[in-house]
Amino acid sequence: MKKAYNFNAGPCVLPQAAIDGSIDALKDFAGTGMSVICVSHRSKEWDAVMAETRALWRELLHIPENYEILFLGGGASLQFLMVPMNLLENKAAYLETGVWAKKALKEAKGLGNAVCVASSADKVYNYIPKGYEIPKDADYFHITTNNTIYGTEIKHDIDCPVNLVADMSSDIMSRPVDVSKYALIYGGAQKNVGPAGVTFVIIRKDILGKVTRYLPTMLNYQTHIDGESMFNTPPVFSIYVMKETLKWLKSIGGVEAIHKLNVEKAKMLYDEIDRNSLFVGTAEKEDRSIMNVCFVMAPGKEALQDEFMEFAKARGMVGIKGHRSVGGFRASLYNACPKEAVEALIATMQEFEKLHK
Ligand SMILES: Cc1ncc(COP(=O)(O)O)c(C=O)c1O
Repeated sequence: MKKAYNFNAGPCVLPQAAIDGSIDALKDFAGTGMSVICVSHRSKEWDAVMAETRALWRELLHIPENYEILFLGGGASLQFLMVPMNLLENKAAYLETGVWAKKALKEAKGLGNAVCVASSADKVYNYIPKGYEIPKDADYFHITTNNTIYGTEIKHDIDCPVNLVADMSSDIMSRPVDVSKYALIYGGAQKNVGPAGVTFVIIRKDILGKVTRYLPTMLNYQTHIDGESMFNTPPVFSIYVMKETLKWLKSIGGVEAIHKLNVEKAKMLYDEIDRNSLFVGTAEKEDRSIMNVCFVMAPGKEALQDEFMEFAKARGMVGIKGHRSVGGFRASLYNACPKEAVEALIATMQEFEKLHK
């Protein structure tokens, strides 16, 4: 099989062990003689998968007992609406660090009083705003911890005087997180924890039940807590692959171990970008993401962009084109992206530099 160095931003590279384990279950699930996509989600075999997946989340992220872990449909994009629907009564505050954050804010504005406390739109979101004030009377403060398109990241758990809500779609499980500092964490699975089709929500139970609006059944977190994420038919295969992905993460030492590797991979690539005369990074150095590394051709070298893209493609690099709103290049170094892929990209950049010196 042809092997690609997959730097796609999501869907993206997943661990081979998770793919192999899922293929086995596609053929014969838990000795049932049926594929995992053909068994009833009310069967005891499926119940065991749900329980194991939840237990892996709890163990890997050290999720306290007063939090529920939900697996829902609709992607992170539906959470942009569900969060304000369930939590916004008087006022919500948002940090606008990219288009995903902006989209989240838009949904909140549609439902009530939502304010933007700071934005980095003035510099194409290439930094994380600092020194902003979080209104103490807000029901919650919403952040996007990793800005997939621009390669910026809030790499620590911020102190927040109100309920902190975080979209962690593209950095969940990439670094240790103190879950107790958050009221709610959500994201689409399709970067670090599985394929598209399932959305994770980690929610502190006491934040619910405080809004007066009517909550449509499917958009009410309580429905899914009560139904143990099976109020309606769950996306069984996506959840199964998620379980296999988390099993792999546990087997290699968990979040703490992968964080070390992620920091190492990102440093290798950023060091090369800073050294190589043909490329420059786009994000402010202190805010650089360890998941999505964004760079462009150096000033005066812009004409080489397409040539480098072809050059890299010929050497097996896939998915390094930057998002259409920023251009240039983006290498996504998610958990399952091996160090060898980063080394291959660096070697390609060095070879290209030699050619154009
Ligand atoms: C940070 C972030 N939030 C939200 C989304 C949207 O996720 P979904 O496609 O699951 O709705 C993405 C998608 O890439 C993302 O990177």
